[in-house]
Amino acid sequence: MTLPPEITIGELAGRSGVPASALRFYERQGLIDSRRTTGNQRRYARATLRRVAFIRAAHHLGIPLSVVGEVLALLPAGEAPTREFWARASACWSAELDSRIERLERMRDRFTRCVGCGCLSFQECALVNPGDVLSGEGAGARRLFDGVTPPG
Ligand code: FES
Repeated sequence: MTLPPEITIGELAGRSGVPASALRFYERQGLIDSRRTTGNQRRYARATLRRVAFIRAAHHLGIPLSVVGEVLALLPAGEAPTREFWARASACWSAELDSRIERLERMRDRFTRCVGCGCLSFQECALVNPGDVLSGEGAGARRLFDGVTPPG
């Protein structure tokens, strides 16, 4: 049995588990593309399924859609990401993930020092004011009323 070369947005949503609204968003962002029928309905190349799988995998890794779009732009239009393409992209993102994990571990260490403390000190607490960077802005709670006139 030969599969049709194109699928509807409903079929793409059903096969990928991605809502049609998200698929239309991906299309507006240039991550996937479709052609329109004479009745103005979207038709996607079957290869779009793998593009959507690529987008979802990257999304679950926390890769920004703009970055995913830059990578997908390296593929010719309508072409599916291959296993090798995904391997290369994921290898590049692995370093970014490692860096993000290190940042989160540092944040967790700072947070661990805060657990049970409650001081919320601008001088002592590394989460409230890392490196006391707000001291140059003057005295008082510099972030508590961002964009809002303080009461009193
Ligand atoms: S709340 Fe006291 S050190 Fe963060």
